[in-house]
Amino acid sequence: MSGGKRIVVAIDGPAGSGKSTIARRLAERLGFRLIDTGAMYRAVGLWALRAGIPLDDMHRLEQLAREAHIELRGSLPQVFLNGEDVTGAIRTPEVSEAASKVSTVPGVRRALVEKQRAMAASSSVVMEGRDIGTVVFPDAQVKIYLDADPEVRAQRRFKELQEKGSSPGFEELVREIRERDRRDQTRADSPLRQAPDAILVDTTGMSIKEVEESILKIVRDRTSNGKEALR
Ligand code: DC
Repeated sequence: MSGGKRIVVAIDGPAGSGKSTIARRLAERLGFRLIDTGAMYRAVGLWALRAGIPLDDMHRLEQLAREAHIELRGSLPQVFLNGEDVTGAIRTPEVSEAASKVSTVPGVRRALVEKQRAMAASSSVVMEGRDIGTVVFPDAQVKIYLDADPEVRAQRRFKELQEKGSSPGFEELVREIRERDRRDQTRADSPLRQAPDAILVDTTGMSIKEVEESILKIVRDRTSNGKEALR
């Protein structure tokens, strides 16, 4: 660990709120390590699908999450599961669905939260997910809650998928987003919610650049005028 104080920038919010893009850009600007915790739930979901483990078998899913060796490398980030590059494989609709289901299992969450805390032990991080400001790092120096209207989030997802060459139905995407929101917000363990001390940023009418600059300003204000944060 370096002499300076480690900083945790926690970014939470629903699917399509812009978390991944914003977290990546912030990590680059700040020189912090990027930790995409959704990618970790996705990796466990992928492994469960491949291993044919029923997505309601809590015991085996917890075992899987404990045994999973998950690495996040670089600013993309590249995701490795047990040494295999699964960066592309975890982004399919099937894996999104599986990730959302495995993330309701308390034992899976405990296992992954432990890994997330360990990942942030040695460097400053931008960590994005659903429960970073509420559960993983309740004492994070900066907590941001990103949100946007469901239709706008579905529109962003629509564009993303089109760019990858698939042609999803828009209505179907809105339905999926609402269903995932419902599941993420109503699960018993660590539901998606805004921490009382998190700053809400509604990205509905904002450009990526505007969101990036406004959060960067918050980070600077919160961390000794940015002297620590901006190396
Ligand atoms: O952000 P994402 O879409 O890649 O996340 C995949 C799933 O994992 C999503 O349904 C919510 C869940 N998740 C979670 O429960 N807690 C986190 N910290 C991150 C993601």
